[in-house]
Amino acid sequence: MSQEQWTAVDDYITARLIPPDPVLEAALAATAAAGIPMINVAPNQGKLLYVLAVAHGARTILEIGTLAGYSTIWLARALPADGRLITLEYEPKHAEVARANIARAGLAAQVEVRVGAALDTLPQLAAEDAGPFDLVFIDADKVNSVAYFNWALKLTRLGSLIIIDNVVRDGKVIDAASRDVSVQGVRALYEALAAEPRVAATAVQTVGSKGYDGLAVAVVLGA
Ligand code: SAH
Ligand code: DHB
Ligand code: MG
Repeated sequence: MSQEQWTAVDDYITARLIPPDPVLEAALAATAAAGIPMINVAPNQGKLLYVLAVAHGARTILEIGTLAGYSTIWLARALPADGRLITLEYEPKHAEVARANIARAGLAAQVEVRVGAALDTLPQLAAEDAGPFDLVFIDADKVNSVAYFNWALKLTRLGSLIIIDNVVRDGKVIDAASRDVSVQGVRALYEALAAEPRVAATAVQTVGSKGYDGLAVAVVLGA
């Protein structure tokens, strides 16, 4: 099994299940044109986020790690007309391109992009009583994964979903001796998920156009 095959199968899936989408294609073109790294979720992963948000009936969504708004658009499309999504991004340039992409998608009224280090903007959200969010998507710097998970717990309610991207990283996650701070950040996240009685959590490995990685999903319980 090879990257070439995973990409070909992703192309097969996407060709059948994800109709051509000029808004999303324009968002990716603008990302590339701005020289922003193309580390957005794949189309079929974006649609998975959309399916989960629709199935969950999410009306309020928090995203940590906007990049140029590709996953943001998928998630925001799941919202009802009066729904809200707040997305947190550190890089002003990413936020600027994201805002343009979100506006082109017709989602500007529902989506707010907040610029700053998420560890600064998350306490602000809490202070504003911005929650509870029905769904949180964590996809920023991996070194702070545990902190983001703990903030997600503070900003959610019973039944909320917490989804976390990049939890396998080419399988590097099982290397306890890794000197990669991102790997250690994700490993610490697994320990936090395991130790937290207020969530039921799982993770699945994924392969596809974005390589070999994984997605964790947790539901907030009453415990
Ligand atoms: N969710 C996006 C991809 C996010 S990539 C998508 O799938 O389309 C990760 C993003 O997190 C990058 O834009 C990066 O600038 C941002 N980021 C990194 N560190 C951050 C921090 N401390 N606070 C907020 N955002 C951060
Ligand atoms: C990286 C970050 C991501 O969120 C992702 O999905 C893929 C790669 C990265 O920082 O390399
Ligand atoms: Mg990611």
